[in-house]
Amino acid sequence: MDHHLTPLDVTQLPTWKGLRQHRQDLAGFSLRQAFAEDPERFKQFSLSACGLLLDFSKNLVRADTLELLVKLAEEARLDDAIKAMFRGDVINASERRPVLHTALRRPIGDKVRVEGTDVMPEVHRVLHQMTELVGSVHNGLWRGYTEKPITDVVNIGIGGSFLGPQLVSEALLPFAQKGVRCHYLANIDGSEFRELACRLNAETTLFIVSSKSFGTLETLKNAQAARAWYLAQGGSEEELYRHFIAVSSNKEAAVAFGIREENIFPMWDWVGGRYSLWSAIGLPIAMSIGISNFKELLSGAYSMDQHFQSTPFERNIPVILGLLGVWYGDFWGARSHAILPYDYYLRNFTDHLQQLDMESNGKSVRQDGTPVTAGTGPVIWGGVGCNGQHAYHQLLHQGTQLIPADFIVPVSSYNPVADHHQWLFANCLSQSQALMLGKSREEAEAELRAKGLPEEEVQRLAPHKVVPGNRPSNTLVMERISPRRLGALIAMYEHKVYVQSVLWGINAFDQWGVELGKELGKTVYSRLTGQDEAQAEDGSTQGLIDFFRARHRG
Ligand code: F6P
Repeated sequence: MDHHLTPLDVTQLPTWKGLRQHRQDLAGFSLRQAFAEDPERFKQFSLSACGLLLDFSKNLVRADTLELLVKLAEEARLDDAIKAMFRGDVINASERRPVLHTALRRPIGDKVRVEGTDVMPEVHRVLHQMTELVGSVHNGLWRGYTEKPITDVVNIGIGGSFLGPQLVSEALLPFAQKGVRCHYLANIDGSEFRELACRLNAETTLFIVSSKSFGTLETLKNAQAARAWYLAQGGSEEELYRHFIAVSSNKEAAVAFGIREENIFPMWDWVGGRYSLWSAIGLPIAMSIGISNFKELLSGAYSMDQHFQSTPFERNIPVILGLLGVWYGDFWGARSHAILPYDYYLRNFTDHLQQLDMESNGKSVRQDGTPVTAGTGPVIWGGVGCNGQHAYHQLLHQGTQLIPADFIVPVSSYNPVADHHQWLFANCLSQSQALMLGKSREEAEAELRAKGLPEEEVQRLAPHKVVPGNRPSNTLVMERISPRRLGALIAMYEHKVYVQSVLWGINAFDQWGVELGKELGKTVYSRLTGQDEAQAEDGSTQGLIDFFRARHRG
């Protein structure tokens, strides 16, 4: 068995112990001071690759911290684990699967074997199939049941079959092709369905039922509702194939739903849901931005794959980000990580990263089933700046927790309005600066005195005005968002998550915890609807079932 499936105990590695000691040595470390003493700090702690600039100088690290973290990665044999993933080894141990979303962005001619078969011809065949479909919709050749061209594409899917495609298609709206609008239907919530349906015309709407398993409750219920709506609007069963296509690895179930075999785009076991936007699950992206831009997105991700595989750890962006996360989580007690994009088009970025990171690294046992020995994935949260500044940033600045943050910001806007973008960029920088510098008691007092306040008032207010500072952040800067840069950015976070999973010895590619809720959901449903009169296992659930049954009106 490969070593990454019988993981090393990271906490027993010599450098883990070294880092514990180092953390104590850094007890009085001051970022303010570090910058004051070292004018080269920005240069020393920033990296550029694949159209991204990462400034990680505002972190609680010295050069020797990074040396230790890199050493830890070496002791954990991260290099072998990276090779194993790209090679197609079975690194998803519990499901006995290789993990090859990286194959989806490889160029023609590359070879990647799964159980002896090169999967690349199939990957490019599907890309070609996508090209044809997108072309025929954009050119108006694909017609609805009244021979009208398609104007609206609705992606029905949830989790990875929703978040990645939604993030990308909305982030790349400046690249959207005219004529086709994209919509997303994810939740099993009639209100979401109705609010969308009333904006659609069945004659010109194409539904993509996007589900790797074709067994996800929310997706199947929405697909059934969409079919009923289409029929009620005047569509017929015979013409259904013009309005429903699917992306799934469960062809039989998609055919049973009524989708023609030639309109089913395949998925593979070796692509996890949250890593699937690069596959045919990305069809709504391609429908929105066109296939050439979709290919640019893939090549941006591919460039990050190359960077990740070939760059020494100390200059490797995903490795550095992963190690910093381990540093804060396991040595500084950080329990969450804020993702703060300063760009309207990236407003869904945090949602995608929540699934990517939390579904991947929210684990308590290691690959071999033994309990983890270190803390694992943090809570990922955040949202678009400046909105967050007027909401939760207060806690970042003065709360009692250490919360590392990633600021993500483009240098230029697609929509220059007066000096908005200069202000947006300035806000982004000043937030990370404020987190880092803080405001000392002396500064707070001096400021209040300068306003002419009496000393008593100065002393009363000063403690409230103190901002501890020394709070770490990364800043990721790019020129405008483009398909290539966005592809690189998303792939960067995928690899960061993998780096951390390797260090912790966990499987980033299964999600068994989600299954329990799904199973219990079925039982609760049958009790809510009276199909099963048995009492719930606990009084709380039973009390809520009784409440629902007594009052439910529709
Ligand atoms: O329930 C979680 C999950 O399995 C995710 O991992 C996945 O992205 C999502 O559900 C949707 O799954 P599917 O594409 O099979 O409908």
